Amino acid sequence: EKGGYDHFMLKEIHEQPKAIIDTYRGRMLADEGIIRMAGIDDNLPKFLNADRIIIVACGTSWHAGLVGEYLFEDMARIPVEVEYASEFRYRNPIITEKDVVIAISQSGETADTLAAIKLAKSKGAFVFGVCNVVGSSIARETHAGAYTHAGPEIGVASTKAFTTQITVLSLIALKLAKEKGTLSKAAFQTYLQTMQLIPAQVEKLLEIDEHVKNIASIYKDAKNCLYLGRGFNFPVALEGALKLKEISYIHAEGYPAAEMKHGPIALIDENMPVFVIATNKGHYEKVVSNIQEIKSRSGKIVAVVTEGDTTVKEIADHVIEIPDTEEAFTPLLTTIPLQLLSYHIAVMLGKNVDQPRNLAKSVTVE
Ligand code: M6R
Repeated sequence: EKGGYDHFMLKEIHEQPKAIIDTYRGRMLADEGIIRMAGIDDNLPKFLNADRIIIVACGTSWHAGLVGEYLFEDMARIPVEVEYASEFRYRNPIITEKDVVIAISQSGETADTLAAIKLAKSKGAFVFGVCNVVGSSIARETHAGAYTHAGPEIGVASTKAFTTQITVLSLIALKLAKEKGTLSKAAFQTYLQTMQLIPAQVEKLLEIDEHVKNIASIYKDAKNCLYLGRGFNFPVALEGALKLKEISYIHAEGYPAAEMKHGPIALIDENMPVFVIATNKGHYEKVVSNIQEIKSRSGKIVAVVTEGDTTVKEIADHVIEIPDTEEAFTPLLTTIPLQLLSYHIAVMLGKNVDQPRNLAKSVTVE
């Protein structure tokens, strides 16, 4: 059942190229320049007339929602708020009929997300679900939706659900951008062609497993780790830290790189591994200077960079290269080595990777 892999998590990490293809298949017709998604097509005016989009989710799905915020605002110019479902449901939020709420959930059973949906519906908002489990409570409770076709995710640590959620959100953002005319035809076309390259690029990234394993063996005994990123990769930093926490029980924090100087940089010393996402587009120079600040305080740096990078390579203790892509799609690639890193550290520490202590696959109680 684990398909020859030692753990479901590793199997699911390796399923990502196929899962991403399954998610965009039939929806993205790259050569024709078309994105068709029934749940969006049938409700287009709701999306185009929305004052804003509110994304509600928990955990990893919330991280995907943060990537969604960057995607929707950048491509489709729609204001987005991303909310923890558990906070949203209890703070008397302002919701109107002109809001579109997108609920993201792998299981479709998360109690807080379900409650947030019910609240939004009661205030007249249009609620759209992005779920993996077909026929789940959230899929049934929403007005419309788009499934991530990731296939069953058994490992408690979410992996392929995350990348397919980002894939669905990218498709929606692109579709709305096309309808609104906020992206040029050429830019839209480039995005579609570039998305088609992602599965093979993920496949290629999975081949550097030994290199990541080697880095894991160097840092597995760390007591604390930091994950840094900016822009589209800030949520990836949060996700990298969550993955490490939940399966290896190592304390880890994700931060927007520029926030370091507002506090966390005080933690840096020679015992502190800092995983930094420093891909070539989007704030590259800024991230390089953040890396220098850490280096000058003796921090250990593992940087995720774009192939061919030379600047970061000189400063960082280790680099992990990802193939080049559009900045908006980098989370689909930068996530992969961070998943592998957490996986290998947890295995090396002898932890129960697929069923970490204190955690359940779906959180059906609040
Ligand atoms: O099924 P959901 O996507 O609604 O679950 C949300 C979180 O409970 C989930 O993402 C959790 O954070 C994972 N264990 C993270 O790996």
